[in-house]
Amino acid sequence: MSAQETAAAAPPRPQVGPDFRFGVATSAYQIEGAVREDGRGESNWDRFVHTEGHVVNGETGDVACDHYHRWREDLDLIAALRIESYRFSIAWPRIQPEGSGPPLRKGLDFYRALVEGMLERGIEPTATLFHWDLPQALEERGGWAARETAERFADYAAIVAAELGDVVERFITINEPWVVSFLGYQEGRKAPGIRDWPTALRASHHVQLAHGLGMAALRAAAGRPLLVGPALNLSPIHPVDASSEADREAARRQDGYLNRWFLDPLLRGAYPQDMVRLYERAYGAFDVVRPGDLETIAAPIDFLGVNYYNPMRARALPGSAPLELELVDGRPPLTSMGWEVDPDGLRQTLTRLRDEYAAPPICITENGAAYPDGDDPIEDAERTDYLERHLAALHATIADGVDVRRYFLWSLLDNFEWEHGYAQRFGIVHVDFETQARTPKRSALMYSDHIARTRGEA
Ligand code: FCB
Repeated sequence: MSAQETAAAAPPRPQVGPDFRFGVATSAYQIEGAVREDGRGESNWDRFVHTEGHVVNGETGDVACDHYHRWREDLDLIAALRIESYRFSIAWPRIQPEGSGPPLRKGLDFYRALVEGMLERGIEPTATLFHWDLPQALEERGGWAARETAERFADYAAIVAAELGDVVERFITINEPWVVSFLGYQEGRKAPGIRDWPTALRASHHVQLAHGLGMAALRAAAGRPLLVGPALNLSPIHPVDASSEADREAARRQDGYLNRWFLDPLLRGAYPQDMVRLYERAYGAFDVVRPGDLETIAAPIDFLGVNYYNPMRARALPGSAPLELELVDGRPPLTSMGWEVDPDGLRQTLTRLRDEYAAPPICITENGAAYPDGDDPIEDAERTDYLERHLAALHATIADGVDVRRYFLWSLLDNFEWEHGYAQRFGIVHVDFETQARTPKRSALMYSDHIARTRGEA
């Protein structure tokens, strides 16, 4: 074969912008373990998982992937796979065991060593300040339903920026404010397990306020400019029957609940009025917003983090409560979470952000899939296929002119998947939870090849 023919046969090199990096993501409670070491305080997740009935098989994150002791090996894996960027989270209770007061040196030292380990290996760090593990002491004072929690979060952000701002430039404030407020305080599926709409609505404001206050505190305490943004979980919402006005209206409400309730304050400085009216009719005055809060929340961000997994399909139900609608099962194929696989939903989500919200640069802060282990857990054909198709959607979106700067795959390791325990495996690296042995799966090798090809190195 001539050189020309070889070139013609090779797949085209995936295109990205000059400031684009491929990464992987994890979170502290899902991987670290060592929950009672070095003075770490109790979090609301420790409390939640140790209460019967909350997690499949009564599993907990007490040991998880033992990353607290094995982090060097985990960073070696990231480097060996040529992954360029690592999104990890800092456990607030390791820094301030009670959620306030002076920081614990040992906690700060752990994250400093972790970050220095990344830099030594040529891996760019992105630190998430809050990935759900709230100090239990704050939960007991009202958790996110209390405004004080947002203020304490800003203190914590300042501590982290002062200690790590020289080695970490990129910070995510809050991971998935919708999940924190509505799955934690309205559906009760996640910590703290409360089921109360008015409480959840208050929490949803305070968690957004925490983003704004935390971002300001980070910037003020760091000795240099930082790049800061939140990570929102977003899904396109489709009406089950697009010709039905009622279904279209149901989809719009679900979009208001999940997406617009967070995008509008952040990027337009106002809560969506249709949703405020619905909520007030059902649950009373939404009166937690104080003068200045919306300006704080809408302060310019350097990037918008987007966690994308799946679209949702909504159908109307008769009734008057704000969310009288039904989410129907997705169209197959589904992951083991029951989530519809729809790579085009990623493109739709990101182009919407550009077209409707004139969004700042976007970082895909999570995207990935859970599948059960097959006979050979390393041969994860379904996850590999999911990933290939979402990477293709990513490159198509970039080619469409959407400014996407990072892609963080969820997740590096099989880990503690919250209320689902260890059965839901999202890792591109297999973890044997008996021995803690790590083995890269087929998807990890494919991702590594994809990165090399994009860089023109394969
Ligand atoms: C997201 C979470 C992450 C993980 C994935 C599967 O909602 O941010 O911790 O649980 O889903």
